[in-house]
Amino acid sequence: MQTKDSDRLRERILDSIPVGIVTYDSQGNVTYVNKVAESITGYNLDEIQSFQNINHVLNGDAEIFWKTLQSGQPFFGFESYCPSKSGIEIPVVTSTVPLLDDNNEQVGIVATFIDNSEMNRLRAVEEHASLILDHISDGVVTLNTEGIITGFNRGAEEITGLSASEVKNRKFEDVFPLAQLVLDKLHETIHTGRECKDLKAEIKDKQDRARFMLVSTRVLRNRNHTVLGVMVTFKDVTIQELLEEQIRQSEKLAVIGELAAGTAHEIRNPLTSVKGFIQLLDRKYENDAPEKEYFRIILSELNRVNDIIREFLLLSKPTVPNLRKIDINSVMEDIRTLMTSDALLHNIDLQFELSKTPAICEVDVEQIKQVFINLIRNAFEATGLNGKLTIAINTGMEECEICFMDNGPGIPKEVLSRIFEPFYTTKNEGTGLGLTVSYRIIQNHGGTILVDSEEGKGTTFRVRLPLARN
Ligand SMILES: Nc1ncnc2c1ncn2[C@@H]1O[C@H](COP(=O)(O)OP(=O)(O)O)[C@@H](O)[C@H]1O
Ligand SMILES: [Mg+2]
Repeated sequence: MQTKDSDRLRERILDSIPVGIVTYDSQGNVTYVNKVAESITGYNLDEIQSFQNINHVLNGDAEIFWKTLQSGQPFFGFESYCPSKSGIEIPVVTSTVPLLDDNNEQVGIVATFIDNSEMNRLRAVEEHASLILDHISDGVVTLNTEGIITGFNRGAEEITGLSASEVKNRKFEDVFPLAQLVLDKLHETIHTGRECKDLKAEIKDKQDRARFMLVSTRVLRNRNHTVLGVMVTFKDVTIQELLEEQIRQSEKLAVIGELAAGTAHEIRNPLTSVKGFIQLLDRKYENDAPEKEYFRIILSELNRVNDIIREFLLLSKPTVPNLRKIDINSVMEDIRTLMTSDALLHNIDLQFELSKTPAICEVDVEQIKQVFINLIRNAFEATGLNGKLTIAINTGMEECEICFMDNGPGIPKEVLSRIFEPFYTTKNEGTGLGLTVSYRIIQNHGGTILVDSEEGKGTTFRVRLPLARN
């Protein structure tokens, strides 16, 4: 009686555990099936027992079952499929352990399995979601409440140059230590729930290049409104930002150009007569008269005004240059002749690396020379005595690039953003027009001027000009 009761109790327990249980004897025949196993597979005990054999479990798994049966080695939690009456294979997580008798002799195996369909469905949803995320070109990063990166889509990989595997499970601030503005917003969102939209921020990519982003943050909550973390999205607007900057620059130039055209001549003409009269006056004094010094100063100041006007006038030059086809290498040869004595005077090591193939461009030679001289003068002024300037010409398929690499002090960031502005100068004697004029000229030639500069290392100006078509 006692044993009957406890048998029934045991059976009830085995049936109420939400795990399918099947036991096999040492020949691999089914000896026991619990109710859960019946409901998962849709077969009843008799039907399952009629299969009789371990081999009815799906192909690959049978091996594992036999292994446990023959060597007593258990296997835990392997994912597989179990046959069902409806013909659908049901995803399950299975474990097999040896079944021992009172003498610790193996008499069969116990296989337990849990229905894994829900897990598989979730996994499919997750895969689907990440597929969608990867097709968004914006960067999407998810963080948990500790600020640890839990998701990093392909857009984020492309924008930052970092791969998801190298940033996942790391703290956001360790991966992007310089994005302070974004970090502050993230903390704010995590701690106060305040979200931000389209905040403009600058981040550095793997090559240390500045990228401009519009950043938005969003609190991630589950169905019970518990905060799970934050989602940060960022849209790369670097190109738009650069274009806008160029437009601003061109607009400024256009205004200055008009101004120059209208006023420069008006100033220059009276200046010429003032200069003439001063020279006349100057002649009236003896060589040792103290007034002579005043005239010298007046004349030198007038010359300086004249220099400014001359550069200023360049800005108003007709926008259509006087074009002819010429090898930039030969233009550079002229420049070499012109600047070598200057370089010697300042004790500057001036090197030329001309291109092996001709760099034929259609340019206004005088204007292009003016640009090269401006850039060389700037480099000389930056490096001071004992500097070094290397000028290299390289030709590509569509354009040629003329690099001016100096080893001067470099340009601080706040200066760098302004050097092309008219009248912006950091020099006592500067006009702040050299680069403005150069920019305008190169722009009129369909080219670009780029600048890389690192403080303490030097500055490189790159002039790119389109090669002439045959
Ligand atoms: N090679 C260079 N190295 C360092 N700073 C430079 C260099 N070229 C230009 N700059 C900076 O850009 C500013 C503007 O140059 P520019 O337009 O030629 O005017 P200016 O030479 O009259 O100052 C300079 O005052 C200087 O601060
Ligand atoms: Mg200059």
